[in-house]
Amino acid sequence: MDYFRIRGGTPLQGNIRISGAKNAALPILAATLLTRDVSSLSNVPHLNDVTTMVELLGALGAEVSVDETTMLQVSAAALTNQRAPYELVKTMRASILVMGPLLARFGAAEVSFPGGCAIGSRPVDLHLKGFEAMGAEIDVRDGYIVATTRDGLVGCDFTFETVTVGGTENLLMAAVLADGRTILRNAAREPEITDLVCFLRGMGADIAGDGSSTLTINGVSELKASHYRVMPDRIEAGTFLVAAAATRGRITLEGANAEHLGVVVDKLRDAGVSVLVEEGRITADMRSGRPKAVDLITAPYPGFPTDMQAQFTALNVIAEGEGQITETIFENRLMQAREMSRMGADIKIDGRTVIIRGREQINGAPVMASDLRASASLVIAGLAAVGETDIDRIYHIDRGYERIEEKLQSVGANIVRKSR
Ligand code: EPZ
Repeated sequence: MDYFRIRGGTPLQGNIRISGAKNAALPILAATLLTRDVSSLSNVPHLNDVTTMVELLGALGAEVSVDETTMLQVSAAALTNQRAPYELVKTMRASILVMGPLLARFGAAEVSFPGGCAIGSRPVDLHLKGFEAMGAEIDVRDGYIVATTRDGLVGCDFTFETVTVGGTENLLMAAVLADGRTILRNAAREPEITDLVCFLRGMGADIAGDGSSTLTINGVSELKASHYRVMPDRIEAGTFLVAAAATRGRITLEGANAEHLGVVVDKLRDAGVSVLVEEGRITADMRSGRPKAVDLITAPYPGFPTDMQAQFTALNVIAEGEGQITETIFENRLMQAREMSRMGADIKIDGRTVIIRGREQINGAPVMASDLRASASLVIAGLAAVGETDIDRIYHIDRGYERIEEKLQSVGANIVRKSR
């Protein structure tokens, strides 16, 4: 089992190129099922979750190839079945995103119930409610969600009870081939959804309202291929900016889009980090001294992203003063706090809030990753700590960060991947 060995205390300095966004690539890969034509995607990150989605498309009968420029080509002309098997879905919850495209194109989809994961139960009830509102019949058989439509999906006016990124993406992909108009209200507004809308428009879809909480889709009879470059990963970018701040270094990100990181950049500046935003580049500089603690509450976009909560917990651990961080999106996304206590962090969990009193110094210790972003926060804590930190179960981090140890080594981090 792989683990990271980190020797902390070195200020990170240098440039890092940001990869394509995992949370844009996954729904866009699912959307390639909506046409018989061959779609092509560039800037797709090389991540375990992307590999799982490609395997899932293959299991449905799609042909996926990668050319020498790492351009991904997907042909869904000859799908052989509409069943997403448990062994794939259990490793990646986002597998549920094939349900909308399969229903839209074939009127049938069988997807194993996605397991909850470390950060909470993560139901899909709102996805299913939306499909039913569009005329689908939903059954649950042997752990599989079986969705069918006798006469095809019909446009509807649907309001999400809570903002859901995946639910918005799934219903968007179902609506583009539905009969008539669909209005999705209280829809998620994440940049990854706007990326999916751009890809779907490239296929010939008729969608308005992206970036707002109301999406209007006029169904069309068929869609054609789309050739698209996936947006840069804003969470990867935010993670490296926090790593620069926590190690009192200076990192410039190439290929990052600061527009997607508005409130994260504001929070870094509140912490005393000098952040320079240029066209396609962001520089975080904390060589001036120790960051200050910040308070934050996670919220749907454009609020503070839940996927950056653990990283800011790590920053507060070594910051000056007391910071409170509240997680409102997932019910169990504070597990990194316990691991940081092992490193000497003064951190208390009170319900969905962590209260952190910053320490001038924390010490390396053996710790264990519990989920993707918790792993990233432990890497940041290890880089800021004095001494050696071993992080176990780093398969979590490989799901969402492309070659993270190489990127960190390139800016001076003492981090190596080892096996035991
Ligand atoms: C997406 O997950 C992201 N994953 C997550 O990133 C991200 O944390 C999350 O959105 C919130 O921004 C991908 O895009 C692949 P939700 P998703 O549906 O779609 C509840 C990462 O680290 N809910 O917006 O699964 C749900 O339980 C990952 O990259 C329902 O109750 O999140 C949660 O409390 C982690 N019923 C809240 O909504 C539903 O039918 C938000 O979930 C659907 C969701």
